[in-house]
Amino acid sequence: MMIAIEPSILSADYTRLGEQAKEAEMAGVEGIQVDVMDGRFVPNITFGPGIVRALRKVVKVTLDVHLMIVEPERYLNEFADAGSDRLFVHQEACTHLHRVLQTIRELEVEAGVAINPATSLNALEEVLDIAEIIQVMTVNPGFGGQEFIHSQLDKIRRLRRMLDERGLKTPIAVDGGIDPTTAPLVVDAGATVLVAGSSVYNNKTSVAQNVAALRASVKKQ
Ligand code: DX5
Repeated sequence: MMIAIEPSILSADYTRLGEQAKEAEMAGVEGIQVDVMDGRFVPNITFGPGIVRALRKVVKVTLDVHLMIVEPERYLNEFADAGSDRLFVHQEACTHLHRVLQTIRELEVEAGVAINPATSLNALEEVLDIAEIIQVMTVNPGFGGQEFIHSQLDKIRRLRRMLDERGLKTPIAVDGGIDPTTAPLVVDAGATVLVAGSSVYNNKTSVAQNVAALRASVKKQ
């Protein structure tokens, strides 16, 4: 089973963001997640379309843009134009989630939906056929370096079962607290896209070593 590793640049060194993205690409990752925060949906403010446009010039891997913003429908065109390969919107931020996912698909960008730890899988039932990837947050969104919420493992397992019962091969992504200890647990539960911030970008070991450690931790799966 191909497991995709995607560093989250939220934990990267912003004084050399392009280099940090390139280091990850050189380390063989499948994608890079850009965490967009508006200070309203989550209590933090980060990047806009300009950062996506800049990273597009530096890397070829999947640019996965995680929109932690209210009314994401207002910015879909800008992030698509900037070079996003995938857009995640939060179920909790969309009054018209079905229309938003349809719009992202019409923009020929991969349409993803993300759900917070407190949000039930029932909230996704009516869009399982149009969501091209689903992200289960394994921390409450807004910051890197938080502790992994173990109760989400059962949610990942149930989601995989819901999708399989409908004959859907939709990949499951996980985001938050992913490291060489928690990565095998989420893969065992059914996740195949692993977003990792502080376990990849930190002052202890290099990006290449950290990516290799994550990859090794799920190899035996
Ligand atoms: C949090 C972000 C995550 C975060 C993960 O809201 O969506 O991508 O950067 O960081 P770690 O891996 O350190 O929990």
